[in-house]
Formats: sequence, C-alpha cells, structure tokens
Amino acid sequence: MSKTMVGLKRTHMCEEVNETHVGQIVTIMGWVNKKRDFPGHVFIILRDRTGIIQVAVNNEEMLKKIKNVRTEYILAIQGRVVLRTENNINPDMKTGKIEIEATELRILSEAAVPPFQVADVGVKEDLRLKHRYVDLKRPEIQNNLIVRHKIYQSVRNFLNNQGCIEVETPILGRSTPEGARDYLVPSRVYPGNFYALPQSPQQYKQLLMLSGFDKYYQIAKCFRDEDLRADRQPEFTQIDIELSFVDQEDVINLAEGMVRDMFKDVLDYEVSLPIKRMTYDEAMERFGSDKPDLRFGMELKNISDLVKDTDFGVFKSAIDAGGSVRGINVLGLADMPRKQIDSLIEFVKTYKAKGLAWISVLEDGEFKTTLSKFFTNDELSKIVEVFSAKAGDLILLCADSDDVVFDSLGALRCEVARRENLIDPNKYEFLWVVDFPLLEWDEETNRFYAKHHPFTMVKDEDIELLETNPKKARAKAYDIVINGYEAGGGSMRIYQKEVQEKMFNILGFTKEEAEERFGYFLEAFKYGAPPHGGIAFGLDRLNMLAVKTTAIRDVIAFPKVKDASCPLTDAPNIVEDAQLEELGLDITEKTEMEQNEKI
Ligand code: AMO
Ligand code: AMP
Repeated sequence: MSKTMVGLKRTHMCEEVNETHVGQIVTIMGWVNKKRDFPGHVFIILRDRTGIIQVAVNNEEMLKKIKNVRTEYILAIQGRVVLRTENNINPDMKTGKIEIEATELRILSEAAVPPFQVADVGVKEDLRLKHRYVDLKRPEIQNNLIVRHKIYQSVRNFLNNQGCIEVETPILGRSTPEGARDYLVPSRVYPGNFYALPQSPQQYKQLLMLSGFDKYYQIAKCFRDEDLRADRQPEFTQIDIELSFVDQEDVINLAEGMVRDMFKDVLDYEVSLPIKRMTYDEAMERFGSDKPDLRFGMELKNISDLVKDTDFGVFKSAIDAGGSVRGINVLGLADMPRKQIDSLIEFVKTYKAKGLAWISVLEDGEFKTTLSKFFTNDELSKIVEVFSAKAGDLILLCADSDDVVFDSLGALRCEVARRENLIDPNKYEFLWVVDFPLLEWDEETNRFYAKHHPFTMVKDEDIELLETNPKKARAKAYDIVINGYEAGGGSMRIYQKEVQEKMFNILGFTKEEAEERFGYFLEAFKYGAPPHGGIAFGLDRLNMLAVKTTAIRDVIAFPKVKDASCPLTDAPNIVEDAQLEELGLDITEKTEMEQNEKI
C-alpha cells in the first residue's frame, strides 16, 4: 500500500519515544531529516515537530521501497523500539539511546529537492521567505512560534482570571487616528468609499467601556502602512486591554502582573515587581531615548553650561540656537582607532548629527582630542569630570538641537554597546516610562499632534497648561520598555465630551472636521462614559524578546519584507479589470508592476 495511512495510526511523536518503550511496537510519522545508506541496511533520521529519532531499516523488501527516498520525503514507520549498543549511543540526540527497527514502512509523500536545505543557516532571507513552508521546518522558527502560542495562552489565562472579557472588533472599519497611514479597502456597494483597516482597536475598545463591559481584552491584528524596521511589520498583533473605573496605577498593576506571568509561564523567568519607573524627561536626559535599554550604562551628560562661552563654532552655534552639547563616556576605549571613531561619526550622521567631537583621556592629565585648539587642559579636565572619566576613557560629544543630540547620542550609546559587546544577552531590564508630553509640535505643518493619540488625558496638574503652554502639558500616558524595545503603551482616556472637544481644538480640527471624523465617537460620549484607560502590548515584540531575536520576521509565520510585500504569495498584486470595474476604480497611471505583467 502506498501513500496511504490506512491500517496505521500514529502512536507517538518522534521525541516522545524513550527507553521505557523498549520492546514495544510504535508508529511514527514524519519527514526524512537524513538517510544514511550502508550495505544491507539504511538508517533514517525521522523528524516531526517534537524532534528526531533514528529508524533502522534492514528488511530487503523495505530497502527496495526506500531506495529512492531522499530528505524531506514523508514516511509512516511502524517498528520495535530497541536500545542502541553502547558504542552507537548518540549523546547529542534526545532519543540517542534508542532506535526503531522498522517492521512496516510507507511513503506518504514524495518530495522534490527543496530550494535549500532546512539545516543550512546561510540561506538569503529572500529565498527563505519565498519558500517559507521550507523555512518554517527549521526548529528555531518552530520554537519561536511555539513560544508565541505559549504567550497567547499565558496572557489569555491571566486576563481571564482578572475578569476581562475577550471581544473581537471589526477589521473593516473607519480610519483611526493612530498616526500612521491607513490601509484602505474599497467598497463595492459605495463606489469611491473606503474602509480602513484598524491601526488599533482604540475607538472600539473605548466604546465597549461606554457600554459597560468594564474590562476588555483582545489579541488584535493591527495594520499600519509605515516604513518597516527590524521591529515593525505592516500587520502586527497587539494584546489590547481597556479597563473602566480605574486610574493609571490600576492599569500599570494589571499590565505588570501580565508581564510577570508571561515571563514565568513561557521562560520560567522571575520578573521582580514593581517594575522601575522613569519620567519621559529623565529618560531623555539620561539616555537620549524614551525607550532606554537599561542593560548597560553610558548615560548622557550635558556640558552646555561648561562650554557656552567657547570659540569653537560648532558648540557655540548649537547653544546659541537653543540646542545643547552632550556626550557619553565610553569606558576604557581611549585608544579606539581613528577609523572606528569615523564610522561612529558616520553612524550619528544618519540621525541628522553633523559630527562628533571626542576626547581621549590619557595618563597624567593629558588629552588627545579634536578640541585641543579651543580648550585648555584645565577646561578639558572640567569637561572630563562631568563624565567621571578616568585615564583610558573616551568621551564622544555632540552639539545640535536637543532633538538631534538626544536622537544621535541615544542611538550611539546602543551602537557602541552592541559593537563592544557590553550587553548581557541573558538579562531582561524592564522599565515604565511615564509622564509623556501630551502634544508634539510639528514644524512642517505648523500644528500640534497628539504624542500618543487624541483620546489621551492630560495630567490633572497640567490642565491649565492646555490654555497657557500646551507644549509643556504632560499626559497620563505610559510605555513599558524591555531591553530598549517599546513593548507596550497606553493611557488614561478623556471621558468628558468638553475636554475631548478642547483636545480636538488644540489639535487644529475645526468643529466640523472633528464632527466629520469622530462624530459617532463624540456622540457616544453624550450618553455617558465611565473613567477608563488601557494599554496595548506589541505581542510580536514580546515574542522577539522571549526568543532573543532582533528580527520581528522570525516570530511571524508569514511575514512581509521591507517593501511590505510578501515574497511567498507575491502580495500585493494587480487584480482583474472586472474587479476594478465592480469597485468603480480606475487606475490612472500604469504602475511599474503592471507594466512588468506581474500576474
Ligand atoms: P501604540 O501605537 O503605542 O498604542 O501601539 C502599542 C504597541 O504595539 C506595538 N507596535 C508594533 N509592533 C510591530 N509593528 C508595528 N508596526 C507596531 N506598531 C506598534 C508596540 C507598541 O508599544 N491604541 C494604543 C494603545 C492604547 O492606548 O491602549 C496603541 O495602539 O509594541
Ligand atoms: P568641522 O568644523 O566640521 O571641521 O568639525 C570639527 C570637529 O568637530 C570634527 O572633529 C567634527 O567631527 C566635530 N563636529 C562637527 N560637528 C559636530 C557637532 N555637531 N557636534 C560635535 N562635534 C562636531
């Protein structure tokens, strides 16, 4: 009988078989990981999701049957479990002390030679993703997805026990003002009208609070048409939570419990609670980032006051323009080769910095520095003191607007730590960043944007600032940062209609525009809204952290690549003219893709 399981039923997964089964007949099914031919007998290493096991085939008829079997053929094997002889034990295999002597063998599926070997780690990612079904056979990727599954379980357990109710919200909806570009879906019934895929379930979950659900959660797919990065996908998954009759402390407490349980359940890692907190301002001052990686030091120091009267044009003009001069101390790297310093300068230029000045602290109060023309040794000593630098240390300085200085030094700090292996990969550092600014001023469009989203509440003590100095107003908003990743973020929401209207006003929406975009939302608040707030975790990012990968693609079964396309299915793609016609759509400009006749 060929290519059928009739009469055979799987009794064990490969790695479930062990010494206690010796003498028993078992049936396993899986993929040929390796086949080793010897005169008169063949060893097959069979693989399934659990792992691998060795099968010995020495029956003549079976040997004939498997003559052409290659790796990745799919077999069903029945056989007796036997102990391996002492010198055949393989200590590197979990099932290395035993093997199965095949008594029946069936080929369930042949397999063409795969485009790359599953075990080959050097394969280009494009090829791997084009044949993701082969790539997904790799034990590491399978493990990543199994960890993902465990995260779902742990999170659901925790939130269920907290009395949260899981509710699904629509994928076809209206544009949500989360800050990124929307993915749009044309309506057939209303030509020229579009649904937007949700950037997050933000408005729906707030409406659920208005309806009295009290505690909600959802493992929600979100869609954002933004530039991809190593930790960003156009479609990603949030653990989305909203609670009623709570304040910021309640949301933070619940979120901490969820994180603690998740790390315990999935990694057996103890998170010590409460998680540290830092204000946004402190995070920027000390680390140049609102998502600082606390696994290493190298904190930023501000030397603007010390150098404000200098003749060094670069420093002077930055300070005169309202910026600052700040730096970091790279311990023990005073003799960093010029070439490496230059590559760090190139690195910060990608963050809009114009350059870096540096001071190598030598023995006996001497310095080697780009600043020698402008600063005396005494002055340099004073600068060096700010950094508590000792002989052998290297100070890197950046002068610019605060935004550019923070961005550049924040990234430089992480880059140097990576290059110099200063990061303990086994450590997790958790942090709440709180007191975010409510608003962000955009020079280009000359208007305020909500830093988190327009439904975020201002801190009680800053309400007046909304009238006098909105830039300074802080929000009841918080992010949870793990090892330098923004793993989640949330806020307390505005629940009074008048305050929401005021917020829209500050954001530059006229009454009509606000009505047009959020009318249904504002209307809902007329009928009563409880105080509420929540948070959303990036599930993919928690997954990345749990399996210690820096690529979000490693934790998503079928990810997109940099240009938001899917190499496997070739999405996005052009559609039939009839489909366009039905939707009332007319493509005016032939795209490059179309010209290449992509279909
Ligand atoms: P926010 O926009 O901060 O908040 O998103 C919450 C979390 O989602 C993750 N995340 C992403 N992960 C992968 N790829 C992306 N493109 C991506 N964008 C965001 C991050 C982030 O911390 N509605 C609010 C939450 C709330 O206020 O309750 C929201 O969406 O880990
Ligand atoms: P320049 O005036 O461009 O020749 O730069 C003189 C020195 O200052 C060089 O070592 C630059 O790398 C450094 N430098 C230039 N711009 C900055 C800046 N914005 N902050 C700190 N150092 C800078």
